[in-house]
Parts: sequence; C-alpha cells; structure tokens
Amino acid sequence: MQQLKPEQTPERGMWSSRFGFLMAAVGSAVGLGNLWKFPYLAGENGGGAFVLVYVGLVVILGFTLMLAELSIGRHTNSDAYGAYNKLKKGWGFIGGFGILAGFLILSYYSVVGGWVLKYVVASITGVGADKAGYFTNFITSSVEPVLYHLLFMGITAFIVIRGVSGGIEKAVKIVMPALFIMLMVIVLRSVTLEGASEGLKYYLTPNFSEITLKVFVAALGQVFFSLSLGMGCMVTYGSYLSKQEDLEKDALLIPSLDSLVAIMAGFAILPAVFAFGFAPGEGPGLMFITLPAVFESMPLGTIFSLIFFILVFFAAISSSISLMEVTVAFGIDRLKWSRKVSVLVFTTVMFVIGIGASLSMGAWSDFLIPWIDGNSYGIFDFLDVVTSYYLLPLGGLLSALFIGFVWGVPNAVKEIKTGGNFRTEKLWSVLIKYIVPILVFVILLSTTGLLDKIIG
Ligand code: PHE
Repeated sequence: MQQLKPEQTPERGMWSSRFGFLMAAVGSAVGLGNLWKFPYLAGENGGGAFVLVYVGLVVILGFTLMLAELSIGRHTNSDAYGAYNKLKKGWGFIGGFGILAGFLILSYYSVVGGWVLKYVVASITGVGADKAGYFTNFITSSVEPVLYHLLFMGITAFIVIRGVSGGIEKAVKIVMPALFIMLMVIVLRSVTLEGASEGLKYYLTPNFSEITLKVFVAALGQVFFSLSLGMGCMVTYGSYLSKQEDLEKDALLIPSLDSLVAIMAGFAILPAVFAFGFAPGEGPGLMFITLPAVFESMPLGTIFSLIFFILVFFAAISSSISLMEVTVAFGIDRLKWSRKVSVLVFTTVMFVIGIGASLSMGAWSDFLIPWIDGNSYGIFDFLDVVTSYYLLPLGGLLSALFIGFVWGVPNAVKEIKTGGNFRTEKLWSVLIKYIVPILVFVILLSTTGLLDKIIG
C-alpha cells in the first residue's frame, strides 16, 4: 500500500501497485461488452462495416476520453460526482449522470452475468441439439434466470464490500491472461471449421454501402460501453492512483487491450455462426447459441466450455465490480455511508430492477416503456438503450466539454504531466476540446432521430 494522501481514507482505499491498477482497469473494460455484445452487434450491423467504424471511433474517442477521465479522477481523489464538483462548483451533475448510468447498467448487466453462470452449469449438463431453443427457454422462464441474477449480484456485492485492492486486483491478475489464452484456442477452432471462411469474409471485409448512421450509433454506444467510459468509472478508478502513474501510457494501453479482446471474440464467434448455419443478426443470444456448437466440435469440448464460461464469468465480475464501485464510492463520499451499507442498499435496488429486466424476456415482454426516439422498449432493452446510446455518450460529451471549457485543457495537461512525459499533448488538446465533442454530439443527434429531421 502506498502512502495515503489526506483524502484517501482507509474507507476509500488505493491500488497496491501499478500493475494492480492496470489489471483492474482492463478488468473493468474487458467484460460482457467484448465477449457477448461486440460479436452480436457486429453480426447485426454488417460485420466488417461495424468493425471498421468501431476501431475508428476507439482510436479517436477511446484514448482521448480515457485520459480525460483518469486525469480528472487522480486530480480530485473523489467519486464521480465529487470530482466534477470539486473542480467547479455546480458541475457535479456530470458525474451524477454517470453514477445513474452505472447503476442502470449493472441492473441488467447482472442478468446477463447470470446467463453466463447458467452456461457454466450447462457446460456440464449439456444444452442438447437445439441450441437456440435451449437459450430461449432459459431466458424467457421466470424463476431460474432471476436466481442466477441474484447469485451474480451477490458475488459482486461480496467482493466490493472487501474494498479496492483486497478484492478487485487479486482476481483479475489471473483471469485476464487466462481468458486471453482460452480465447486464442477457441479462435483457432472456430476459424478452421468447415464453412468458416464465409464468416471470416463477413467479419473482415467492410461493405462500404453498409456503413450507415445506424452503424455509427451502434458503434459509438459500444465504444463507451466496452471501454467503461462516459460514466465516471475511470474517474473513480483514477482517484485511487498515485501521482507517479503515467496516465498517457495507461490511456493507450487499456483501449488497445480491450479492443483486442473484442476483436478476438468476433473471430471466435462469427466464423462459427456461418459454419453452423446460424444467423449473424441473431442478437443477444449469439454467443450463447454459437459457442456450445463450437465446443461440441472440439475434443474435450466439455472441459473447454466449462473453463471458458468460468473465465467469461470472471471477466464479467471484474466489470460489474467497477460498475458497483462507482455507485458505492458515491455512497461513501457523498452520503457518508460506510462501504458495507452503501453496497447493501445499492445492491438491493439494482437487484430489484434487474428482476424486471429478466422478466421482460418472457412473462413481462408486453410491458413496454416509451422513449424519446419514438420507440417503446421492454425493460431489458430500455436499460440497454438508454445507457449505452444516450447516457454514456452524453457523459462523454459533457466531460470533454468540461475539460475544454470549464476546468481548462492546461490544467488537465498539468495533471497528466505529473506522471511523466506527455508526448501527445497537442493532439490530445485538440481532440478533447473540439473533435470529440463535435463527433459525439453529431452521432448523439442522429441517435434521437433529430438529425434525420434537420437534414431530411
Ligand atoms: N466495459 C464493461 C464491459 O465491456 C462494462 C462496463 C461499462 C463496465 C461501463 C464499467 C462501466 O463489459
């Protein structure tokens, strides 16, 4: 443990090492977003077209906003709300949006985390010949998925109660490298399947006519979601960092590793989708339906499946921990609750919302919530759409504007420089002040359908 700064009460905690922080940040970023969401979004949005737009946006936004959030966090040593408020009174609402977003994301993230746990079990019991039927039967039932959701939420809460370096760091150090190796194995099997080349082509060749606004909207939401940006998560993690940390390096490394895992997950899943004759636009079930078929085609498939889903579970937990930490840090710093009370209160509320999300797959599928884009969504989709496509990009936009025009780029630069050279200072300054806000703003406008109206 490094020496605590005045603001760093034991209740807040601090990373025990640089490696520990990096692993935790990568652990936050790498999760269901990469393994579950990225492949099905690519499948729904033209394969290569989506991958190209996604990578482009990661390069522009990922690095810029990651560095922005880390610097705000380290400078202020506060939770997401307090950080903005400390820099400029009255601006805490930016962090407040983020805390709300994290809270809503975890409510349904935990449901999907529960699906993963179910597939850990199903690796042993088997899913039968009808892979899609098995998945649909499970998620549309009323009791079992809720119990798995409870289990996932409970494990997350248990770890977060134990605090920053005690719980989070330890697990991730082993899980991330293991997950990487496992993914390699699956990719190798998947791309060598008969008929895989069709999928590879789909995944790797961008069809430019498929690059529509919709693809941009989907990719933008995914960049924020997958990199844990736009909700103060990296502000919170940055607040536990020492002044010697080279933030620029971190902001390059974390998005790179995250994207690498996402792209590998696509290689693991999409070729197999084509080889086995599933539909790439299958949606949220894609991973759960496709991978069991891949494992069946492997020697020792049961064991591979078991190990893989356990690793996915750990990757999901290291992300859900970070989601919960944002809310919990708010409880500790703002509401002056103890860590334990904070965890228990928020966990209970998120669990209840998650029950609604789970039931919206089946029993409550007729219950729809209208939204400003003119559509109505079931609870699960509502939580996903509102957070990924609206709240996170809005949070990112506001944090960029905040640095550019309120806190001031020179102040952020000074903070970043305390940890080492800042080679991309000029580039970053332009990106954070002008390019990122404009880009995110334009895509956000088109998300709500406003752009259609303005242009059309
Ligand atoms: N990035 C995580 C994932 O890809 C999810 C997440 C989003 C975590 C936002 C923290 C904050 O699974």
